[in-house]
Amino acid sequence: MEIIAAHRELVLRERQLAQAEESENINNGVRMSALVRVGLAVKNARVESVRTGLGGKSIATFALGQGHSFALKVGDPVVAIGASSSTGDQERLVLRGVVSKTDTSTFSVSFSGDANVSFDSATVAKADSAATFDRMDAALKDLQNAIGFSSEKASSKHLRIGESLLNVLLHGTQPSFSTRPAKPIEFLNQMLNDSQKDAVAKCLAADAVALIHGPPGTGKTETVVELVRQLVKRGDRVLLCGPSNISVDTLAARLTPHLNPNLQFTRIGHPSRVRRDQVLTHTLDIRVRSSDEGQIANDVRAEMDATLIKIQKCKRKAERRTLYDDMKRLRAELRSRCCCYTVWLWFYVLQNEYFDAIVIDESSQAIEAESWIAILKANPKARVFLAGDHLQLPPTVKSSSPSRTPPVSTLFNSPQLTSTPTSLTQTLFDRLLSTHGPSIKSMLTIQYRMHATICKHPSKYFYNSLLPPRIRLIPPPIPPPKRPRNKRNNIPVHNLHNISRRTRGNNARRHKRPIRL
Ligand SMILES: Nc1ncnc2c1ncn2[C@@H]1O[C@H](COP(=O)(O)OP(=O)(O)OP(=O)(O)O)[C@@H](O)[C@H]1O
Ligand SMILES: [Mg+2]
Repeated sequence: MEIIAAHRELVLRERQLAQAEESENINNGVRMSALVRVGLAVKNARVESVRTGLGGKSIATFALGQGHSFALKVGDPVVAIGASSSTGDQERLVLRGVVSKTDTSTFSVSFSGDANVSFDSATVAKADSAATFDRMDAALKDLQNAIGFSSEKASSKHLRIGESLLNVLLHGTQPSFSTRPAKPIEFLNQMLNDSQKDAVAKCLAADAVALIHGPPGTGKTETVVELVRQLVKRGDRVLLCGPSNISVDTLAARLTPHLNPNLQFTRIGHPSRVRRDQVLTHTLDIRVRSSDEGQIANDVRAEMDATLIKIQKCKRKAERRTLYDDMKRLRAELRSRCCCYTVWLWFYVLQNEYFDAIVIDESSQAIEAESWIAILKANPKARVFLAGDHLQLPPTVKSSSPSRTPPVSTLFNSPQLTSTPTSLTQTLFDRLLSTHGPSIKSMLTIQYRMHATICKHPSKYFYNSLLPPRIRLIPPPIPPPKRPRNKRNNIPVHNLHNISRRTRGNNARRHKRPIRL
């Protein structure tokens, strides 16, 4: 299957570019100094302590020297390079991890796999996430196997995805929609507008795939939330995804008010990357931590921490080796006792889990290979729903490539058959739309976020003059300005003195001069 083979090549090329950039950063003194200057690398950071995190991870805390600028954020993948003290011959050790905590004088890195953090200091620099490329390639390889295109060893032997779904996604079969007069849908969110209701209804009637297309602020996420609630109400098990942690947390936060015994969710992913407090309690980590197994794991982790302290104090080589062997044994015990080893790799968390519906929000921001990681979790009857807007920015990639297909061709022209992708910026959403034409999608037509004046330009040049159901521009009411004050020193945060007058006809405020802050 050419599409998938071409995608694997594109992913490989992207990975090579990312790796080349990373090794250039690490090995080229000038590049490294530039990274240090902007705070994306720290040279010779001293290891203050190493402890065991959930799932047997090693969490090292590094000291930041005085005056260091530090721009790395929690969740950033990093590479740490130091001289190993465990072997005595000062071997260069390169470990990959994720920033898990930062404060003014220290930062912590959670190291992946069985990494033995055996350096006393290390240069830590921002890296590309190799794991992401591995997952994308594994998904594409699995897909090739599922369609009998390759006999390479698949990473998952248990693909269940149905043939009719694959036919629509890959072989150009037109998507079908049930024509049976289903009983009227009882919408759970009474605020939905007609185009949102139509989109939900079309998805529920889809036999395999449906797309929700909406310009910015037209309520795609809101529609996805209703769709998920409707699917769950019908007894479906749903995998809800997004291409970034922020998108997943937005979805999770919007679902939270609707939770009930029948509608529960688990947020999978590194808790340090969860951006919203109300979502944190739904992470797999927190759930496991509060379980019985979590308590057992805590005891093993305490033992591991004690061993780590001994290792740091131990000067004799032979003794150090024995202690590292102890650590290995304890890690194995932690894994066998506690399912949470898999917390970090959602891939494995969901290893034998399959879903009735795969819903991807912001799917036009996801590389096609990323979407397949989720779609391969489909059971034989599963359906796929993608929400997005192919007219907005494509996914960010390093490989230079032709820009996204001109939008106009994909909106109303007759369907054109799938061609081999030449760029990672062509997403699954784009491809399905160009393959099947507008009949696969529903269009959301009411804009909620932008002020009418601001919306005029994109509306005219990207959507309005082309769309039969014109986007109705509703200026959102602007709330009265708040004047929050810093309670301690009573400094107004916003100085609104320069606001001269209200513009006629709406609530917008106009500034004579820039606001003084
Ligand atoms: N039917 C509706 N009635 C009232 N408000 C709505 C409705 N649908 C969406 N909104 C509000 O409009 C705003 C934008 O909605 P939403 O975030 O779902 O849009 P979106 O299309 O997903 O935006 P983006 O393109 O940024 O992802 C939100 O504040 C949401 O609560
Ligand atoms: Mg959205």
